[in-house]
Amino acid sequence: MNHQLIQELEDTIQNIPDFPKPGIQFKDITPIFLKPDLYKDVIKDLAEFSRGKIDAVCGIESRGYLFGIAIAVALDVPFVLIRKKGKLPPPFVGQKYDLEYGSAEIEMRTGQIKSGQRILIHDDLLATGGTTEAAALLVQKQGARISQFSFLIALEELGGKERLKQFEAEVHQILT
Ligand code: PRP
Ligand code: MG
Repeated sequence: MNHQLIQELEDTIQNIPDFPKPGIQFKDITPIFLKPDLYKDVIKDLAEFSRGKIDAVCGIESRGYLFGIAIAVALDVPFVLIRKKGKLPPPFVGQKYDLEYGSAEIEMRTGQIKSGQRILIHDDLLATGGTTEAAALLVQKQGARISQFSFLIALEELGGKERLKQFEAEVHQILT
């Protein structure tokens, strides 16, 4: 565990009460991008977790792109975008998932990940795990293997970690 990095992130990320709804505390990660040295340390930590263990990074729109692309570049592996419904031209595959009210869908271009590849799924935040679970199912549909999940932050009390156990992959987060 990198205590100095954890401390600096805790001092930088802003907790905004009652956003976007009453009772929800929003974690604003944007101040990280005002500190290039901190950003580089975050990427170094996330890249070291995956070094030598993956063939591609799949990042989840939109905040999963902020660190995901840099991880892929640091490791010299491809980066594949998982997008919200309706943004990608065909051919693509989709996966529906449930939200607190209603449902959502994410999509990925077909052919960008290959059967048998070892995949890291990256997102900034693990909350209920619904988004990440859908991303993992989408990757599996294409015959690739979920080797790892990584997050900047995992909120343990919301059950996301439990939900990811079915994939038998390594999980890493910098902040819990
Ligand atoms: C947030 C966050 C994760 C997801 C986590 O994204 O960036 O992707 O929610 O929630 P879950 O574990 O309960 O599924 P959001 O959908 O707000 O969109 P954004 O990344 O485009 O801001
Ligand atoms: Mg997101």
